[in-house]
Amino acid sequence: MTQIVAPRVFRVQAWRMRKTSDIIWQDAQHQVLFKILDMLREPTAGRQVLRQLEDYTLTHFALEEQYMKELGYPGRIEHMQAHARFRKEITELLESQQELDAVFREIISTFLTEWLTRHVFGIDKELEEFILQSSAK
Ligand SMILES: [Fe+2]
Ligand SMILES: [Fe+2]
Repeated sequence: MTQIVAPRVFRVQAWRMRKTSDIIWQDAQHQVLFKILDMLREPTAGRQVLRQLEDYTLTHFALEEQYMKELGYPGRIEHMQAHARFRKEITELLESQQELDAVFREIISTFLTEWLTRHVFGIDKELEEFILQSSAK
């Protein structure tokens, strides 16, 4: 029997549309971040997309960090360090003189998307559970 395998593009789409969190603001913000990373692959994408990513990352990380602080989240330091590393990657990309051609955009987008996927389905999930168990949800 032939195995039916969806073309890669559909599998990627299905993955992207997958809910990342039961907390509405957290899921909505993650979806925006993934969307910006997709935009980075567009032929017209320039440094402004990276700047948009930097801005939105700041907004999203700040909100998660505010929850962690107010709830006294035990994994706060480790989580904030992970956020800081991601911010640093983006800042370095913005400061680099490398031309943002198609190959480079693809590499950046893939790298950042993989990082974000691991983060969102990794330590963000632990935070999500903690917030959902608290009175702050
Ligand atoms: Fe997050
Ligand atoms: Fe996070």
